[in-house]
Amino acid sequence: MDGNGRWAKARGLDRVKGHIEGVESVRACIEAAVEKGIEYLSVYAFSEENWNRPQEEVLALMELMMQSMKNEFGTFLDNHVRFMVLGNRARLSEGLNRTIDEMMEATSRDYRSTLILFLSYSGKWDILQAMKKAQAQLSPEAFQAMDLPDFDRFLVTAGIPDPDLLIRTSGELRISNYLLWQTAYTEFYFTDILWPDFRKPQFFEALEEYARRDRRYGKVK
Ligand code: FPP
Repeated sequence: MDGNGRWAKARGLDRVKGHIEGVESVRACIEAAVEKGIEYLSVYAFSEENWNRPQEEVLALMELMMQSMKNEFGTFLDNHVRFMVLGNRARLSEGLNRTIDEMMEATSRDYRSTLILFLSYSGKWDILQAMKKAQAQLSPEAFQAMDLPDFDRFLVTAGIPDPDLLIRTSGELRISNYLLWQTAYTEFYFTDILWPDFRKPQFFEALEEYARRDRRYGKVK
């Protein structure tokens, strides 16, 4: 969800105002995804690297996460959306973790779509924690015999399908340590639009572009 800071700067506003406007885009995309029957929508809200931003911005972002989750609770219920947070939750505050647990529990039944907020997440961290978990849980023989699907279940995304489409806004052409393992065959869509300007029409345009892609998974068709 890149470009919040630049969106704010272009208007002479504080960077945090850009993040606040970015939450409106998250809501628009949830509604658009539900409308199209998309079962999983993931947003990369805060990376492990983002902890290195100035402390005021980190604190403001964490506060915004907490407020936005609470504010969007109605959106989740109205749209039958299950809310999930994945990432290194040990780094989040106790209060934020409590709110996350309550919201995940409250939206865990009677859902049609799932919104995953990746928070304090990085792809390399995920692979490393999966490796450690696998080694701790499996016998040395089972660990050695581990196959690709066996490994998948140790990632934080266990049980969740790999993404079909990854959208990156604001003209950045990188993966920035997002779902490294899970995006092996994901289609990428890059746009110069800044995240606060990425609303329903822009989301639908990305879906139309995706529909034109020819997915071969390394095979010949
Ligand atoms: C990247 O823009 C955006 C973020 C680091 C934060 C995004 C988080 C939200 C919009 C909150 C979502 C929360 C909920 C609960 C829906 P940037 O700061 O890197 O912008 P720049 O590239 O212009 O500097």
